[in-house]
Amino acid sequence: MHDRRKKKIFPDDFLWGVATSAFQLEGSPHADWTTWDPVISEKPLITDHYRLFRQDLRLLKELGVNAYRFSIEWSRIQPREDTWDLEAIAHYQEIIDILRSCHIEPMLTLHHFTHPRWFMERSPWHRTASIEKFLRFTEMMVSSLKGVRYWLTFNEPYVILLGGYLEGCTPPGLRDVPRSLVALKNIFTCHGKAYDIIHRYIPGAQVSLAHNMSVFAPWKRWNPLDRLLKKTANYFYNHSIINAFQTGIFIIKFPFSKPVEIEVPIKDKLDFFGINYYTRIHLRFNPFRKMGVELRYADIEGHGLTKMGWEVHPRGLAKVLRYASRLDLPLMITENGIATHDTGEKVKYMKKHIDVVEKCLRDGIDVRGYFYWTLIDNYEWLQGLDARFGLYRVDFETLERTPTFAATYYAYLIQSRSGM
Ligand code: BGC
Repeated sequence: MHDRRKKKIFPDDFLWGVATSAFQLEGSPHADWTTWDPVISEKPLITDHYRLFRQDLRLLKELGVNAYRFSIEWSRIQPREDTWDLEAIAHYQEIIDILRSCHIEPMLTLHHFTHPRWFMERSPWHRTASIEKFLRFTEMMVSSLKGVRYWLTFNEPYVILLGGYLEGCTPPGLRDVPRSLVALKNIFTCHGKAYDIIHRYIPGAQVSLAHNMSVFAPWKRWNPLDRLLKKTANYFYNHSIINAFQTGIFIIKFPFSKPVEIEVPIKDKLDFFGINYYTRIHLRFNPFRKMGVELRYADIEGHGLTKMGWEVHPRGLAKVLRYASRLDLPLMITENGIATHDTGEKVKYMKKHIDVVEKCLRDGIDVRGYFYWTLIDNYEWLQGLDARFGLYRVDFETLERTPTFAATYYAYLIQSRSGM
């Protein structure tokens, strides 16, 4: 009885998927990250997915997913500004064809953090020329690749800006607030224009981006400054982007300063909203830290911390879904997952978050899909190769893939919840 009631909650066309990104699986000799991080020069092929992709795509069948989010590596497609690598395009087309032949819906991300080196050297995001470069690439992809209905223009634009323009820990490695604002305008302008290009070529396309929504909390509830930081972070991270899609204006507000308004051509340029959700962040005012902010992850409710040190906070997923539903658009969880070496933890994380999705569906929130991050262990950016988000474990020496119990469990959850 219990099971039968559960089956009704997830609609038949709910997208049960896993998400990956090209560079994290296969690297690229032409990408900016390859020279940025010494880990990549030691292991340039990472999991060698570029060669082993057929075998990896078979794992999707094993899982029984009906959707797969992946990205194309721009620097493989356009290794030099004047060169399009047709074999690389054919490679990604083959992935799409395999997915289609297995009745797995492809969701394609155009930009997932990495760039061709020439792009970063000549026209990074704070230069106006970046817009034309990215749109040329978009048009090339949209006109060449056949069989994709779901498109994500950018993965986590805020992370590109925070890492590349404020923290300086990712390319182009700047700490420059004025340039970060120009980059924001250019990236979102690209989104708006790419939205139109995709629709021009593909009638019925579903276009979005993946934004990492987060839950923020004051470090000490009684401290008004911590509470103010929480409000500010929440406004910037979760509200300003939603507002910009509704109005075409980004409003950036920091305490005790005049709000900055940036016009961006993205009003209504969204067919669904892609949400990456992982954790909750506690904030504390600390005058000795950059911008007066210190953040921490704390195991407040006893769900534990992940290998990234992040708090496991399933309730937060309901919070961000509820918040995002003010867009009045279908919502898609484009990433959710845990870094851990302990499969039991992985299973618990997955179950708790999918339970939350189920509850949200019951409450009438329009969630259309859930993509677990990620299929196989991969390169986790600044954390290197040890984070282990995969449903399948990768031995980085032999490249062998081994299912973890979480893979079996995900397959079971998909079957039991969807009635597939
Ligand atoms: C990114 C992924 C990353 C994951 C875990 C997301 O923010 O899109 O590339 O691996 O988080 O950190």
